Amino acid sequence: MDTFYRGRRLRRTPELRALVRETAPLSAADLIMPYFVIETEDTHFRKEIGAMPGQYQLSPAELEKQVGAAVDTGLAAVILFGLPARKDPQASEAYNPEGIVQKAVRLLKDRWPHLLVITDVCLCEYTSHGHCGVLTPDGEVLNDPTLDLLTRTAVSHVEAGADIVAPSDMMDGRIAALRAGLDRAGFTQTPIMSYSVKYASAFYGPFREAADSTPQCGDRKAYQMDPGNVREGLREAAADLEEGADFLMVKPAGPYQDVIRLLADTFDAPLAAYQVSGEYAMIKAAGRNGWINEEAVIMESLLGIKRAGAGQIISYFTEELLKKGLVK
Ligand code: PBG
Repeated sequence: MDTFYRGRRLRRTPELRALVRETAPLSAADLIMPYFVIETEDTHFRKEIGAMPGQYQLSPAELEKQVGAAVDTGLAAVILFGLPARKDPQASEAYNPEGIVQKAVRLLKDRWPHLLVITDVCLCEYTSHGHCGVLTPDGEVLNDPTLDLLTRTAVSHVEAGADIVAPSDMMDGRIAALRAGLDRAGFTQTPIMSYSVKYASAFYGPFREAADSTPQCGDRKAYQMDPGNVREGLREAAADLEEGADFLMVKPAGPYQDVIRLLADTFDAPLAAYQVSGEYAMIKAAGRNGWINEEAVIMESLLGIKRAGAGQIISYFTEELLKKGLVK
């Protein structure tokens, strides 16, 4: 008679392993694909992002092509980031009804009414100084005056047809401001996916090249969260729900799985996680060098995020996994 636990009994065959697997395999419905759309005269502009092999800045026409191919493989949801032709200190292009994201939303929703189109709501891609809000002369990001600009941005996205808005700026009170602004504009049914617990992370490095949004001076530590904090994340999430957020989000995802788990256990709201540009870049780099089995690591990285408790995962791998049939 065994006096010890024989865990291997249930690992013997693929069938047994499938039967006892606790986390359902990743599916197309879990995933959201980010795209970078750029305002340019060049209709067929398409430029690969140096630190994100396989990801591109795309003109609207190229975006349409790319999304079309992905929709054919089962793409269900996208999140859009815009690169405007002009930047200024007030981020005017962020809330221009004819701005690049607004145009891209119209284009996609016209062609694929059932594709979920989420827009990132932030000012950093639109400000000449690269910060997520308006600045004082000595370089401090002003909270309350920024709220009005974020609200105008979100309303303009929804007027263009966006299904969900996702504020990523980390200003205080932004969810309350957006909710009130959307409701006033008649969009009481439009959900807000809040980047609730967003850390001041070095993992955003490649994104800042992709979105051309590097701060010209200073950093984002005075508005994004300190990587050592988790209790503060609970406060942020609770405040967002109170203010009217429909989804919470943790970002980055992989290095903050403890935070995902805690939020999943604490709140009864859909919880998203963002596998960010640096997480993508590291896997791609190691894969290209033959140091890891890239496909297997991609799947495991995403399963880890799902297992931690995320119901929706924003990942740059989405398109590739669908195309290869690794996710259905
Ligand atoms: C905009 C924004 C950022 C990301 C998503 N929205 C950059 C930042 O906060 O500096 C990062 C996404 C990624 O790294 O993939 N504020």
